[in-house]
This record gives sequence, structure tokens and C-alpha cells, in this order.
Amino acid sequence: MQYRQLGKTGIEVSEIGFGAWGIGGGWGERDDKQALAALEKALELGVNFIDTALAYGEGHSERLIGEVLQGGGNEVFVATKVPPKNRVWPAQKGTALTEAFPKDYVLECTDRSLTNLGMERLDVLQFHVWDDAWAEQDEWHQTVRELKDSGRIRAFGLSINDHEPDNALAALETGLVDTVQVIYNIFDQTPQDNLLPTCLRLGVGVIVRVALDEGGLTGTITPETTFEAGDWRENYFKGERKREVFERTQALGFLTEDGSSLAEAALRFTLSHPAVSTVIPGMRSPGRVEQNVTVSDGQLLSVKTLEELKAHAWPRNFYR
Ligand SMILES: NC(=O)c1ccc[n+]([C@@H]2O[C@H](COP(=O)([O-])OP(=O)(O)OC[C@H]3O[C@@H](n4cnc5c(N)ncnc54)[C@H](OP(=O)(O)O)[C@@H]3O)[C@@H](O)[C@H]2O)c1
Repeated sequence: MQYRQLGKTGIEVSEIGFGAWGIGGGWGERDDKQALAALEKALELGVNFIDTALAYGEGHSERLIGEVLQGGGNEVFVATKVPPKNRVWPAQKGTALTEAFPKDYVLECTDRSLTNLGMERLDVLQFHVWDDAWAEQDEWHQTVRELKDSGRIRAFGLSINDHEPDNALAALETGLVDTVQVIYNIFDQTPQDNLLPTCLRLGVGVIVRVALDEGGLTGTITPETTFEAGDWRENYFKGERKREVFERTQALGFLTEDGSSLAEAALRFTLSHPAVSTVIPGMRSPGRVEQNVTVSDGQLLSVKTLEELKAHAWPRNFYR
């Protein structure tokens, strides 16, 4: 496993981090035993960064992580998220900051996350949605300062709304944001335009989410794919979307000619940008962990391949 600086936080994170949404629930039947085994395998193989959220199974993902961390071992860094108080994902234009992240509410959620995780200080606390119209508002500036001064958090971050990478640029200029979490993958390459260069300039850590397009960029989605009852991806890949994804991934066949899997190439794509600190694929089983950690071997995609991939960008938003 290779490690990179998480911006200017002083934290060195594994290139492959652990995306812990799936283990919290909502992805078909939950299997806690398998989830704990996946987390343990990840730590054993050098993963030292886990991304979770208070909203993932209403604290369930955090509690599973807490259970594993109680076992001790190597230092592990955890990033979690405060859900918007109004429970609206993503933040809607015109929403007041105080509807989503009033100070007292943020402090209360932080304490709940600390309890769930069994930690005294969170390594990274992120707002789970963001609207850059809030950038200059004093309330969140004060909140972040209080969280740091009280020792509850080490670093503060924003989880940027789906497919809106520029919707945090003003916040980054305040100097209060240590990390961003953003969708960056072969289909959505738009963070390259403004966000990633800004993060490099300001020393902001970049946590890449949805590198595998919720499974779309793994080559496992075909027109015939079905999901378990209760798997939210029934909606994400509804109607003709499975066929569209299948055709798009067939066109990416050149990435797997050397024997690597599409998932591997998709993860390598994200690590090939110098602004990226870590990529956090969702992994619910030890087998997935074993597959994904192999990607952190220092081999990046060539400039030629990255250039070729520009033609495969596919602007759309399946979350809507
Ligand atoms: N708004 C936000 O802040 C937000 C939103 C979304 C995600 N996130 C964070 O980002 C993390 C990653 O996103 P995600 O989990 O939604 O999507 P993702 O990483 O793009 O995709 C996860 C899917 O890919 C599969 N997968 C993983 N490795 C694979 C491999 N090597 N080969 C084939 N399939 C593989 C997983 O398999 P299994 O089904 O077998 O597990 C799962 O179905 C989340 O866990 C969460 O921490 C944050």
C-alpha cells in the first residue's frame, strides 16, 4: 500500500481508503459479520483511511467501524459526515445555511459520531452536502473554529454535491476547508477543470468517491442485472440505464486488454491525478478489499491512456 498526504492536514492516508456507506445498509441485505471481516482485512492490508457518515444506517456504519477500532492495531484515520438538519440531499439552491447546518446541531451530531466511533477526536468531519452560496456566512466559520478549538476534530471537509465539483470553490478560498470529497471517475472528469487544480494550489486534500460509478465502472452491470430487494441501485440503474452503462463500459474494453479488471483501471484513473489523496471504493467483503488494495502499486495510467479516456466522459446525473 502506498500513502499520500491529505492536503495540509499532516495526515498520511492510504491511496485506497474504505468507503463505508454500503456496510451501513441500503445496499440489499446487510451482513455485519462480512462487513466487520472486510474492515479487518482492509486494516490488515494497509488501509488506514475510512470514510463514513452519521447517516449511513443512522450510525450503524460508524458503530461497526468503532467495533473494529476497539481492537487496536495500526493508526487509522476516520472521516465522517454531519447530515443536513433538513435531511435534503443534495442541498437545494436557496436553502438557508441554518436549515442545514446550524451550529448547535453540528456540535450535537459531532458528539454522536464520536460516541458511535468510540473516538475522542474525529480526524475529518465533513458536511454531507454543500451550497457555495454559504461560503461567506459566519455561522459555519464559527462552527469549524469551535470544533477545532474544542479538540473534537482535527480537520474539516466538505462532501461536494453529486456532479457539481465547482460548487465549493468559494468555500475553499476561505482557508477553512482542509479536505473535499468529490465524485471523480472515468465518466465524470469535470473535477479536472477547476476543483482539482484549486486543491493543488491551496493544499486541500482530495477524497475521491464513487470512482466505480456505484458499480457502473466495474463491468458487472449488464441489461439483465437485477438488484436485491432494498438495494437503492434499483433506482440508480433504472429503465434503460443498465443498457447505456453496459454499452459505455464495452467501449472501455481497451483498458482491460492487459488483463486488469475495469474496476482496477477505474481506480487507477483517479489516482493518476496528482491532486488526489485517496480513493474510497465501497467494499462490503474481504474479497473486494483484496482486489482493490492491489491497485496501490505506484502504477498510474499513461498520459496517452488518460488522453484517450477524455472521449469516454459521459455527463449525466443518475441520482436525479
Ligand atoms: N454524498 C456523499 O458524501 C457520498 C455519496 C456516495 C458515496 N460516498 C462515499 O464514497 C464511498 C464510495 O462510493 P459508493 O460505495 O457509493 O460507490 P462506488 O465505490 O463507486 O461503488 C461501490 C460498488 O462497487 C463494487 N465494487 C467495489 N470494488 C469492486 C471491484 N474490485 N470489482 C467489482 N466491483 C467492485 C461494490 O461491490 P459490493 O456490492 O460487492 O460491495 C459496490 O457495489 C461510499 O462508501 C461512501 O463512503 C459519499
